[in-house]
Amino acid sequence: CGIIGYVGPQGTDVTSILLDGLSKLEYRGYDSAGIAVLTSTGTLELHRRAGKIANLAATVIDASPPTSGTLGIGHTRWATHGRPSDDNAHPHPDCTGLITVAHNGIIENYAELRHELEQSGHIFRSETDTEVLSHLIEQAYTAEAEHDLSTAVRLALQQVVGSYAIAVVSSEQPDLLVGARCNGPLIVGMGEHEQFLASDIPAILKHTRRVIILDDGEVVALRAESVTITRLDGTPVERRPITIEWDSEAAEKGGYPHFVLKEIYEQPQALRRALAGRIREGRLHLSELESIQGLLAGIQRIVIVACGTSYHAGLLAKYVIEQWARIPVEAITAAEFRYCDPIVGPETLCIAVTQSGETADTLVGIRQARERGAPVIAITNVVASAITRLSDAVLYLQAGPEIGVVATKTFVTSVAVLYLLGLYLGQQQGRITSEQMREFVTALERLPEQIEHILTQASGPEDQIAPLAKRMSQVSSMMFIGRGVGFPTALEGALKLKEISYIHAEGFPAGELKHGSIALLDPDTPLFGIATASHVYEKVVSNIQEVRARDARVMVIATEGDEKIRQHAHDVLYVPATLEAFSPLLAIIPLQLFAYHAAVARGCNVDQPRNLAKSVTVE
Ligand code: G6P
Repeated sequence: CGIIGYVGPQGTDVTSILLDGLSKLEYRGYDSAGIAVLTSTGTLELHRRAGKIANLAATVIDASPPTSGTLGIGHTRWATHGRPSDDNAHPHPDCTGLITVAHNGIIENYAELRHELEQSGHIFRSETDTEVLSHLIEQAYTAEAEHDLSTAVRLALQQVVGSYAIAVVSSEQPDLLVGARCNGPLIVGMGEHEQFLASDIPAILKHTRRVIILDDGEVVALRAESVTITRLDGTPVERRPITIEWDSEAAEKGGYPHFVLKEIYEQPQALRRALAGRIREGRLHLSELESIQGLLAGIQRIVIVACGTSYHAGLLAKYVIEQWARIPVEAITAAEFRYCDPIVGPETLCIAVTQSGETADTLVGIRQARERGAPVIAITNVVASAITRLSDAVLYLQAGPEIGVVATKTFVTSVAVLYLLGLYLGQQQGRITSEQMREFVTALERLPEQIEHILTQASGPEDQIAPLAKRMSQVSSMMFIGRGVGFPTALEGALKLKEISYIHAEGFPAGELKHGSIALLDPDTPLFGIATASHVYEKVVSNIQEVRARDARVMVIATEGDEKIRQHAHDVLYVPATLEAFSPLLAIIPLQLFAYHAAVARGCNVDQPRNLAKSVTVE
């Protein structure tokens, strides 16, 4: 979910500011949205609609000219408690209409709190856990807090168990906006005579680049001319704003029809940034790890905890880290890790991979690992995100903002950063000679231009990917196979396709296909084989032949110069040659483009696929 808040001078077009901010946060959830604006006459105007923000904007504009005022909050939702509907959309007023709240996260003790509030006469209008917050804050506001909103928020939150980022207004205090966070992202944008509150930086970048990133357990009171931060117990907090370097352009489509396409094309740049400073004169420098060298020296095992695409990056890292450092590595999805009573302790390095830095499953899993004494390294794209607070060291992806819901440039940079970590550990274990390191580093440094080469070809007249994707776009099911590092590549290729085109797709280890899933193959089920140069190339080719023998249509990703493969495949998409370990960073590019063009051909909403959200802040 995404939240936005504004406070400024009288007569501001608050409605438009909120709607615009929400549109920048829509990647965080888009099944319903709402805004609440305090008008110049002192009344709180509330609009909430199921569906996308465009739906909400249309009803707001139909209803009246944009409401001007001093204050407002907005929300775009990814449903957890309660199905997407007008009533369940945020913001939520309490029953008196005095207090209104927009909330991202989950209130774990909401059932008890709701029961107690109902006992004392509060009437609930929605099924959401958020409405509990409005009532709880209203109760504190009218009693102990003596009509002071920030005190009321502090007191109410002391009773709450869960994760949240909230924006709160009171219809009695038209000059005050209050925010608070605990395990949910929330930032303050400091303007001239106006202040903003938002889940993420792109929402406010149009107005200001001065940003304060709030910490867990902090409450912020925003007035047009001031920003005051306290902890939940009332202790004052001093925090200087940081200046955001990138401009709002970076979070715009910049001439591309979709963010996903723009982000696919940004991959060479993103990768250059991820490598910059970490590779110098043929050598590896991970200064971020200097402070934990002692912790790393004693590790005997590595567990990589992640979800979705980040999990696939983790699976790739397992292959290469084991090979380079000879340390056993397990990659596990965070939602499973959390409940498997994991065997981890000071001898197990836990690596959290999460582009958003706020995926609840990953956060909870890592918290558990820490409690058991495991050292933690976070790999994330978002500066000061929740995962960074749970980690002994952080490696940032430096990929720049990724707005498309599906991960593209954050996948490639996650893999690259995990690989750098693998090389670092290999070096530390004395398993990589300086000559080998030079070879790895040279190959890594070539990758951005090799990706550029694939992308340039894909935008030229000779492009094969888009026509192939269009031809395949009407199939109902597809398979992806690979061996070694080609296997996670197959998984990621399949995930991209299903996420944005809704074509059923599965990835398999190529050798495993014959043990069951081959039964699914028929002439209407095409298959992608990852057959780039590797020590298992011949084996992959054998598996492809087994598929051909079942009359399935075969497409392959192969290494430039491999003419032999043509006899085994109907279509071949070539990528440049690199070391086997690095081949997924090239092989994934045509697969991303294939998924994109198939989705466009099917008329899907590529940037905001159904049922998904970029940051899933609930378990
Ligand atoms: C969501 C997104 C996926 C993403 C996963 C993990 O489910 O839709 O695209 O891979 O979360 O996100 P993270 O931010 O932890 O990498």
